[in-house]
Amino acid sequence: MKAGQIFELTAKTLSGLEPMLANELADIGVEDVQIGTRVVEFTGNLATVYKANLYCRTALRILVKLESFVAEDDDQLYKNTFEFPWEQYFGVNDTFAIDATLIRSTLTHTQYAALKVKDAIADRFRKVSNNERPSVDVMSPDVRINVHISSNYCTLSLDSSGESLHRRGYKLGMHEAPMSEVLAAGLLMLSGWDKTTPLIDPMCGSGTFLTEAALMATNTPPGMFRKQFGFERWRGFDENLWRKVKGDAKASIKPLTTEISGSDFNTKSLEAAADNIKNCGFEMDIRVEKLAFEKMDAPGKPVFLIMNPPYGERLKPEQLNGLYAMIGTKLKNDFSGSEAWIISPNIDAMKNVGLKPSRKITVYNGPLECKFMNFKMFKGSLKEFKGGEAEAKSSSE
Ligand SMILES: C[S@@+](CC[C@H](N)C(=O)[O-])C[C@H]1O[C@@H](n2cnc3c(N)ncnc32)[C@H](O)[C@@H]1O
Repeated sequence: MKAGQIFELTAKTLSGLEPMLANELADIGVEDVQIGTRVVEFTGNLATVYKANLYCRTALRILVKLESFVAEDDDQLYKNTFEFPWEQYFGVNDTFAIDATLIRSTLTHTQYAALKVKDAIADRFRKVSNNERPSVDVMSPDVRINVHISSNYCTLSLDSSGESLHRRGYKLGMHEAPMSEVLAAGLLMLSGWDKTTPLIDPMCGSGTFLTEAALMATNTPPGMFRKQFGFERWRGFDENLWRKVKGDAKASIKPLTTEISGSDFNTKSLEAAADNIKNCGFEMDIRVEKLAFEKMDAPGKPVFLIMNPPYGERLKPEQLNGLYAMIGTKLKNDFSGSEAWIISPNIDAMKNVGLKPSRKITVYNGPLECKFMNFKMFKGSLKEFKGGEAEAKSSSE
């Protein structure tokens, strides 16, 4: 792979975050984004591949397309994979692994499709390399190959990310119900948080909203803490180019000047949050404290709240309803002039918040369909608030 070469690229993301990812790619200079379902397609050179991995907060993986063909059965899949010159991309001493996804395909077993591709690659190497072949390493391969078969059309790509990009490298400990870093960043973007209004997560758990918000507010690329990306193990890895991309990114990081704070009533969660915050270098800037939300003092100024309350696995329905009702009462009584965003898959529990959401967005937290809802807490009646909003709008026009 050469620096000037132009590649067809695919960035994978979570459902609902595609437009955010397209904006992020535009920000790093990509001009031809095409939004699909959980993917954004684009083209770019090696620098684009490196930058997309380093900068995109809402990307899960960046794939570099190698070949595509019709694969109506396993023979076609094997034959076309075998004919591709894999030896130009890696050698017999490298290790490889296959990830496969099938959508509307005659081939119905993902593992079987992956096995066929693995066999074809191994046989190809045996043929061109004196009967030698690279070994498979599913945990930490040098080269990860992505097989995507949709409507019997197969695309083979190199996965330039390696480990999923939600693994930023700053979360070392485990938390019971951590939020994906990619989802947290995507929700912050969807919410339209301006990066300057003080941000509070009053049920912060391991602190994912806090760290992702701080990374955004300081212009810190999310990949800055990762030990390695897949492309660093590729044949022809351009170390100088990567150093330059990383150097430029580092130079644009600014200090945190926005107030970001979190609290939780669970000691273990707070310890995880404190560790994660420290691993990002924000331990002097982000405040976390042990506190039940119901006990939080009114901030006395407009703030931006974002939270992911428990959704019910360990709570009885009446406890859960009580918790969501408490959130609503607390927001109404102590946070007038502020706005709050709540994500939850539990629509019934959410009704107990008792406030009218001004926006509802459907997103997925893993397999769970969730609503991400916005509440604006205003002083006085809704009529007065709406009147004020209209006035503000007409005076800014
Ligand atoms: C789903 S987890 C949040 C996960 C978090 N977004 C993360 O990234 O790790 C919900 C959190 O709410 C906390 N919690 C529940 N009720 C609370 C309350 N009344 N006050 C403060 N924290 C609460 C729990 O301890 C738990 O850590």
